Amino acid sequence: MTDTLTAPPARTQVTPRHLTGPEGLDQLLIARLLERAAQFEGGGADADRLGRRLLATIFYEPSTRTRLSFEAAMHRLGGQVLSAESAGKTSSAAKGESLEDAIRVVSAYADAIVLRHPEVGSAARAARVAEVPVISAGDGPGHHPTQALLDLYTIKKELGRLDHLRVGLAGDLRNGRTARSLAVLLTRFAGNELVLIAPPGLRMGEDVRRSVGAQLRVQETPDLAEVAPTLDVLYQTRIQAERFESEAEYERYRGIYQVGPELMRRLPEHAILMHPLPRAGEIDPQVDADPRAAYFRQARNGLWVRMAVLDWAMAG
Ligand code: CP
Repeated sequence: MTDTLTAPPARTQVTPRHLTGPEGLDQLLIARLLERAAQFEGGGADADRLGRRLLATIFYEPSTRTRLSFEAAMHRLGGQVLSAESAGKTSSAAKGESLEDAIRVVSAYADAIVLRHPEVGSAARAARVAEVPVISAGDGPGHHPTQALLDLYTIKKELGRLDHLRVGLAGDLRNGRTARSLAVLLTRFAGNELVLIAPPGLRMGEDVRRSVGAQLRVQETPDLAEVAPTLDVLYQTRIQAERFESEAEYERYRGIYQVGPELMRRLPEHAILMHPLPRAGEIDPQVDADPRAAYFRQARNGLWVRMAVLDWAMAG
């Protein structure tokens, strides 16, 4: 009789397909993921590809869109989900367990891990110890690669191309991980121009400014109204209250850029207004009915893009 318990397990060492930041996303992989997302959206792909597979979503920071769209994506692909929301309070992190130990353990339970964590570099740290794919859902003020992918998907769908665009990123560019990742991915396509719209205290970090500036034209300005008429895409972002050292510092910047009907009159007719959401006062709800307001369509696109990302990471 076979002794199943003591027989050595048959292991094939395959490097998992991690997605921990924008650096691994070259033009070819982006094109492949966006095409796959379009297939899922159009109903032309096998939507039961991940049957019997299990996804763990571990979120140490709040989320509506990222966690629920990943979970919806997994269910729509026929798989199942283990979810640790508020993991900082409800997992053994509250007892002092390290991120690395938690990831090693969850690797043994699930076929892939989606991780949101407040520390920059946390997804890469998790990937170093994980035996299954780790997909970043945001690492503090670092990066948010799947948001940037769904942003590209939205731009392509709305404007028909990803090249030769003038894209304005506005708001808290110091702490806004979605803007940082989108800036990097826009360098993958020819002829794009970036306008970084922020006050001096909320400038985008030098790491991204330097790498992006070496590859495309970058303008920096604090004046949103002045540059609005020149843009194809205005990507508005939230002032990230949770990242400031004091309430007083946050209050200095709260409400600094507000998009309302007047600003929309300055935006070209062909342009789109995007926002990763949630918004906290920086887009007037009166703007929602404007056909150029793309942010709820953008959030919906997250579902198809995250189906494509899970399919790539788990089904190969
Ligand atoms: N855009 C985004 O990351 O939203 P959530 O924080 O709700 O996931």
